[in-house]
Amino acid sequence: MMRPSILRSVQSAVSRSITRRGYATEPVPERKVAILGAAGGIGQPLSLLMKLNPLVSTLSLYDIAGTPGVAADVSHINSRSQVTGYAGEDELGKALEGADVVIIPAGVPRKPGMTRDDLFNINAGIVKSLATAISKYCPHALVNMISNPVNSTVPIAAEVFKKAGTYDEKRLFGVTTLDVVRAKTFYAGKANVPVAEVNVPVIGGHAGVTILPLFSQVITCSLTWHFRTSNMYFGFQALLVCGNPLNCSLV
Ligand SMILES: NC(=O)c1ccc[n+]([C@@H]2O[C@H](COP(=O)([O-])OP(=O)(O)OC[C@H]3O[C@@H](n4cnc5c(N)ncnc54)[C@H](O)[C@@H]3O)[C@@H](O)[C@H]2O)c1
Repeated sequence: MMRPSILRSVQSAVSRSITRRGYATEPVPERKVAILGAAGGIGQPLSLLMKLNPLVSTLSLYDIAGTPGVAADVSHINSRSQVTGYAGEDELGKALEGADVVIIPAGVPRKPGMTRDDLFNINAGIVKSLATAISKYCPHALVNMISNPVNSTVPIAAEVFKKAGTYDEKRLFGVTTLDVVRAKTFYAGKANVPVAEVNVPVIGGHAGVTILPLFSQVITCSLTWHFRTSNMYFGFQALLVCGNPLNCSLV
């Protein structure tokens, strides 16, 4: 028989989860997301991911060329957002107008033997002109910089925004998710633990020598127990925190 205290915490967890669940009648805010460089190797799958995000109501896909085709393909996905493609500098203003979030994977990628810094000469100019347009057409947007070298393109955008009087440090981000997912995958492979249960904090920047995964601070290891009573299904979660995989404690 279940102890009353456990039963009470299960009941309150279930009721919290039910009250948190979204219903179709709840209003979902209108959110416009603009992707600059949407026809590229990063831009296309990113456009797909944004189209699958139920929080996005308008998806604006901009590139110097190729975006009408990408936008047509992406728009066929049966999710909420309306998709429009914009191509060429003349359409940049329309693409950005009223955007809440701007994501920038525009520019050239590395070729074999190149460092991210080798991309500076080309991508710095691209980012400067895109940031100038952002400060004009959507100065309050959250700006996510993917274009490399991120360690330099973020400061370039910051300087453009400062000059335009629109800089807000809480609204400009360098995107380094790649470092985090890589750190988790590599750690899980070495430690032979399920990758979905690993958390590796990564600090620093986004260049070979400035990406610092903190392996000493690993791990969040999530254990889930499930049990059924009649037609109810309950789950418990506990966290295992480990400085290294051989030295774990339950919290
Ligand atoms: N931050 C990260 O973790 C991360 C990860 C992968 C790639 N990147 C960087 O993202 C950038 C894009 O990589 P990719 O593989 O998609 O390259 P890609 O060459 O496939 O795509 C780049 C796109 O940018 C477009 N573009 C060029 N100039 C533009 C401009 N002025 N305005 C709008 N669009 C413009 C191109 O037409 C192209 O479609 C590179 O700088 C790469 O190093 C960063």
